[in-house]
Amino acid sequence: MKLVLPDNLHGLSKAEVQSLYSHALEYMEKAYAPYSNFKVGAAILTSGGSIVCGNNIENGSFGATICAERVAVVKAVSEGLSSFKAILIVANSENPIPPCGMCRQVISEFDGERIVVMTNAKGLCTFIPFDELFPFPFNL
Ligand code: THU
Repeated sequence: MKLVLPDNLHGLSKAEVQSLYSHALEYMEKAYAPYSNFKVGAAILTSGGSIVCGNNIENGSFGATICAERVAVVKAVSEGLSSFKAILIVANSENPIPPCGMCRQVISEFDGERIVVMTNAKGLCTFIPFDELFPFPFNL
C-alpha cells in the first residue's frame, strides 16, 4: 500500500516514510487484539537509522493491555536505542490515529526529533513533530 504523502515530510525522505509504513502494516497484522479487534502497528526510525516495530498486545485484564507505540519504544530502548527520528502509527481506522496520552508521556522521556506520522491502512497520513503534539510532558 502506498501512502498519500504531504509536501512537508519534516526532514524525512519518502523512502524512509514508505519503509516505516510497510513495517508498521506488517506488525499491525501480527497484533494481539482479541478483545477490541482493533489492531495497531508502530514503527520507530531511530536516530541511527534502525527500524524497530511494535503492535498492541491486549490482555483479559484490560488494564494490562500495551499499545503498539509503547511496545516499539520498549523494544528500542531495551536494545540501547533511545533517540528517535520518527514514529509511524497505523490502524485499520477511518482516520489516521494519534498516540494515546500514556504513549505520548512515554515517548516524551526519550530524545530525537520524534516526527509523529499518523496513518491508516488506506494510506492517509498526517505528520506532526512530537513537541507540537505533546508540548507539556511531565518531567521528574
Ligand atoms: N491502541 C494502540 O495500540 N495505540 C494507540 O495509540 C491507541 C490504542 C490499542 C490499545 C488497544 O489494544 C486497542 O488499541 C483499542 O484501544
